[in-house]
Amino acid sequence: MSGFPEFIYRNNELFVESVPLEQIAAEFGTPCYVYSRSALTRAYQEFDSAFADRDHLICYAVKANANLAILNLFARLGSGFDIVSGGELLRVIKAGGNPQKTVFSGVGKNTEEMRMALEANILCFNVESEAELIALNQIAKDMSKIAPVSLRVNPDVDAKTHPYISTGLKENKFGMPISEAERIYQSARLYPHVRFTGLDCHIGSQLTEIEPFMQAIEKILNLLNNLKSRGLEIEHLDFGGGLGIRYAHETPPSIKNYVSTLCASTNDIKQRLLIEPGRSLVGNAGILLTRIEYLKHTPVRNFAIVDAAMNDLMRPALYDAYHEILPVNKHDRETQNYQIVGPVCETGDFLGHDRKLSLTTGNLLAIMSAGAYGMSMSSNYNTRPRAAEVMIDKGTVHIIRQRETIDQLFATERVLP
Ligand code: LLP
Repeated sequence: MSGFPEFIYRNNELFVESVPLEQIAAEFGTPCYVYSRSALTRAYQEFDSAFADRDHLICYAVKANANLAILNLFARLGSGFDIVSGGELLRVIKAGGNPQKTVFSGVGKNTEEMRMALEANILCFNVESEAELIALNQIAKDMSKIAPVSLRVNPDVDAKTHPYISTGLKENKFGMPISEAERIYQSARLYPHVRFTGLDCHIGSQLTEIEPFMQAIEKILNLLNNLKSRGLEIEHLDFGGGLGIRYAHETPPSIKNYVSTLCASTNDIKQRLLIEPGRSLVGNAGILLTRIEYLKHTPVRNFAIVDAAMNDLMRPALYDAYHEILPVNKHDRETQNYQIVGPVCETGDFLGHDRKLSLTTGNLLAIMSAGAYGMSMSSNYNTRPRAAEVMIDKGTVHIIRQRETIDQLFATERVLP
């Protein structure tokens, strides 16, 4: 057992669904991201069915993995989207997603992005500051439009996750204090080109406990009540994303438990519920496939130098994140303690530390749980073209992003005359 339902060993060889990873590497080369359509679909349907007949909208957080094929798949399943840039909006539209099921988050939306989103009639702007609200009101006025708005409140709860991905503490740059949101909702008349339709929060990412979500919900419901008592009606509540996945030994709440908790805690209200999951929809539906270039044994450490690097998967270097690393071909030879590293010229360029593996040059490794914040955070550092991406659909391998070429990297650069 690999522990990942779509990535399974058969006779000691790792497959994705019914396809050997060895075959994918031979056909498309490495490094290569490999996704399972059935894993993506299953995760979406788990969310959707857990809401049962509760009025809801799942807005997939595009930043987790923005490939058009993945967005298109979620759009076909009925998903909405959570975007954080004009580029992401254009991706949603290009992929056949519905702007009217799209919410726009982020602390720094610029004029052009707000215009594009108003033009596209998105569902809601998740506004993070009074300054942003003033700007949006003006832009909507210039366009003779009314902008639908949720204020993103910062509920000041500890998400108990990595500090870089914790967003709901009062010292974080995200959202606004509840008291400020309450004041702004009440001064709605100052913003005639804005309509307050929702109330929003997002407290962080890779949460492995339900408690912080419940604390945030309680604070949001309090605010909702206060607004109601002043005659302000809100149409939807947006609880953001953040549900964690299992990378190693974490035991996050299941999708079903998480959604059930949201529904049960909001049983008494009629508002539509929105969520913005990213990682929990795509994280364990994808891997990064890489080949061992060299084994290097020094007096103090063993290194496996692979052809994927921190530019392909930045999470280990950036957050010291753990990703399970599985050999594509398992055998019984003696294991050694390896540092799995890439070719990039940084000591931080590692994919895994101290892994007990039995390795041979030329063999393939699967870096697990790489579907979220893998390709979407990749870069061209060291002039490395970005990896290919493929998706498996019922035994057929589809290329969903060609491997980048060096020519593409040079295309926008010019030397002085
Ligand atoms: N909504 C908002 C407003 C967000 O900022 C995020 C993620 C999400 C939804 C989706 O959160 P998720 O369900 O994926 O936890 N690069 C980091 C994660 C950064 C998350 C940023 N915001 C990582 O690799 O762990």
